[in-house]
Amino acid sequence: MGYILAIESSCDDSAIAITEIETLKLVFHKKISQEIEHSIYGGVVPELAARLHAEALPKILEECAPYFDKLKAVAVTSSPGLAVTLIEGVTMAKAIAVALNLPLIGVNHLIGHIYSLFIEKEEMFPMTVLLVSGGHTQVMEVQGLHAITTIAKSMDDSFGESFDKVAKMMGLGYPGGPLIQELAKEGDRTRYPFTVPLAQSSALAFSYSGLKNAVRLAVETASEADYKDIAASFEHIAVAHLIQKLKKYFKTNPPKRFAIVGGASANLYLRAQLEALLKPYKAELLLSELKYCSDNAAMIGRVAVAMYNEGLFTPMSELEVTPKSTI
Ligand code: KG4
Ligand code: ZN
Repeated sequence: MGYILAIESSCDDSAIAITEIETLKLVFHKKISQEIEHSIYGGVVPELAARLHAEALPKILEECAPYFDKLKAVAVTSSPGLAVTLIEGVTMAKAIAVALNLPLIGVNHLIGHIYSLFIEKEEMFPMTVLLVSGGHTQVMEVQGLHAITTIAKSMDDSFGESFDKVAKMMGLGYPGGPLIQELAKEGDRTRYPFTVPLAQSSALAFSYSGLKNAVRLAVETASEADYKDIAASFEHIAVAHLIQKLKKYFKTNPPKRFAIVGGASANLYLRAQLEALLKPYKAELLLSELKYCSDNAAMIGRVAVAMYNEGLFTPMSELEVTPKSTI
């Protein structure tokens, strides 16, 4: 039996996982989130995040010591993400690789989110995937590890980021997604008639900056009692934008198996609207377990097992941080 140790530090979660290669069993997973520390700033402060990773990762690593003698490889998120936080994980991975004489596997964080569907499970392809996170909003056709085609992506802010920014405008804290979702539950979704972005455009693309600015204007002239209606109306339109573009894509590419991944895939209103959209197609809907929607190392470990089985190692000199890479 052999294990892979996987490290995640692309944003504000420090996490390490140990996955058994042969059985896919997640034998260890620990994550230390920095939400409270960033909350007062209404968003992630990169330098603070890096300092917190430097404290948290070694603490988690100590707990992994019992597995060291059975490790076969060290995996780490090397792209995309914040440069100063990615480097914390990559440096630690390189140090472990040298100390224990192990090969390295550099993992793309976005592929990690896709593989969050397969933690302790066999892979299932092909499928259409909607990735909604703090950094990305994209639709992909996924045939396998090496066959991922991006169909649509955001031209500016991401879906999750727009929730974070709206929450910041209202002084609610960070991350904004769960806070806005909660507030929206009691609100009137029709009271603020925000415009669905790119509704007149035939392009398969997303944009959230215009909606964010419209919400800003509404917040500036509203009282706190109106916030729940603004949150509900915003969430409604933010989701309607995704649904409208997917509907358009499905006309020529009817879905058979569809997955939503990424931190914002936890959004219940989005899940409900997507279920309704998929119903006429009788398409299967795949979701990650709630605890693996947001950033974690278990998903990085799961990709790493697939890469390990194909002999896809990253030479030490080539393992670099690539903050802006995509799929
Ligand atoms: O995947 P993730 O943990 O980190 C990135 O890779 O970016 O996603 C975090 C993002 C944040 O923007 C957060 O506000 C959003 O996911 N999020 C949500 C919800 N839960 C988390 N957005 C909308 N509704 C939610 N329930
Ligand atoms: Zn993520």
